[in-house]
Amino acid sequence: MSERTLVLVKPDGVSRGLVGEVISRIERKGLKLAALELRNVERSVAEQHYAEHASKPFFESLLEFITSGPVAAMVVEGDNAIAAFRQLAGVTNPVQAANGSIRGDFAIEVQYNIVHGSDSTESAKREIDLWFPGV
Ligand code: CMP
Repeated sequence: MSERTLVLVKPDGVSRGLVGEVISRIERKGLKLAALELRNVERSVAEQHYAEHASKPFFESLLEFITSGPVAAMVVEGDNAIAAFRQLAGVTNPVQAANGSIRGDFAIEVQYNIVHGSDSTESAKREIDLWFPGV
């Protein structure tokens, strides 16, 4: 079933020149870009995006990181896009992510894990409405 997911290449991925690599993996998988924008993240958007982590000890540091430089935000669509991108990304902690996944191949620290992908249909809808209202 075709669905949409919100993907971010975070400031670490952008500054390391990995935007093309991430988009290439998305496209080679058979998923399509429905929206794409390089943008600086306002703190209010970051707070809403990561609202579920508000009580975590790493919340403030996560907000600082995600607002520290431009992110490449995109809406990705295709069959099972949410699960398909999460498999491309690998699990949250890069040292546990499989080789061949984006995080497994390019990251070593949990905060600096290159990409974000929505984790459910509910979060995908919420996040797409937040980042790309009207898309
Ligand atoms: P993401 O998939 O975008 O969702 C929440 C983010 O919080 C996660 O990727 C990491 O960047 C970050 N994160 C998760 N766990 C930790 C942690 N223990 N310490 C610091 N950052 C974390």
